Amino acid sequence: MEGITLLMLADDLWSDPILQFCKIGTASRCGDILYRPSGAFVNITSKKKERIMRFEGQVAIVTGGVGGLGKGIVGRLASEGARVVIFDMDEGAMGQTVEEFAGEGYSISSQEVDVTDEESVRSGVEGVAKEMGRLDIMINCAGILGPNNHKITEVDMAAYDATLAVNLRGSYLMAKYSLVEMEKRDYGRVLLIASIAGKEGNAKMSPYSISKAGVIGLVKSVGKEYAETGITVNALAPAAIYTSMIENADPAAAQYMIERIPMKRFGKPEELAATAAWIVSPEASFNTGFTFDMSGGRATY
Ligand SMILES: NC(=O)c1ccc[n+]([C@@H]2O[C@H](COP(=O)([O-])OP(=O)(O)OC[C@H]3O[C@@H](n4cnc5c(N)ncnc54)[C@H](O)[C@@H]3O)[C@@H](O)[C@H]2O)c1
Repeated sequence: MEGITLLMLADDLWSDPILQFCKIGTASRCGDILYRPSGAFVNITSKKKERIMRFEGQVAIVTGGVGGLGKGIVGRLASEGARVVIFDMDEGAMGQTVEEFAGEGYSISSQEVDVTDEESVRSGVEGVAKEMGRLDIMINCAGILGPNNHKITEVDMAAYDATLAVNLRGSYLMAKYSLVEMEKRDYGRVLLIASIAGKEGNAKMSPYSISKAGVIGLVKSVGKEYAETGITVNALAPAAIYTSMIENADPAAAQYMIERIPMKRFGKPEELAATAAWIVSPEASFNTGFTFDMSGGRATY
């Protein structure tokens, strides 16, 4: 048994694609053996065979795709058959991520795109659609926290501008140019990652809260513009999901966030990826202009 990983799954969870995804990067590589409580051993020869392939043939862009949340989404979409292009500014991390996922047999590439720069976004999106022949999904995960333990009177306006540029202008530009491509095939899924801070307003995080409230307004407006097409435009508003954004936040800000979550824990990137994947799937065809919740019970509206 040396060198063989055994995973024990409850029988009723065996075919759960979310659970299968959770094991990526930990133990369920091809060749691993999974043990079912009923006693059967199953030799995994291809992970793809174990999953629902909702995105077979589809092309997706994920901005901030090497970040804590973006990377989980990239893996989830690719594991279900999408060809994914990561847009990010962190070249080193992009190379590493693409290499990591190539080992899984996924189709993932990357491009350096600054979501605040209109020309960078326009040419990046246009290039993907031209090269791959289509654009089905765009998930905007690029974001920064900005000043996160400052009262309004202490906020430096350059930091304010930078926060709004990435989080709000970036969302706007990515939606704008993705929609140009999606209109051509009358199909598309735009998903912008907002935040609970945009719904409720986090104290001492006013630039961030304002930027995310703007994202929520953006999907309300643009969702209606496209409501009679095959394109949906939605947002997802997480409370605190454990990523480097949380790790690097001021400890007081992190404490503030967790205290307000009724489940009294941070969310997990794979939980967010699972919800995001459903929102951008063909199944989610009667949902637009909406900001989905991902807050461990904090937001009940
Ligand atoms: N982690 C959380 O708890 C949480 C909660 C609510 C909302 N969000 C939102 O989710 C999104 C992702 O968060 P995360 O935790 O993965 O953060 P992260 O810092 O791990 O990742 C953000 C990514 O965005 C990229 N990026 C920053 N500026 C960019 C730019 N101008 N152009 C292109 N890429 C750029 C970074 O390089 C990084 O890879 C953000 O919009 C964040 O506001 C996160």
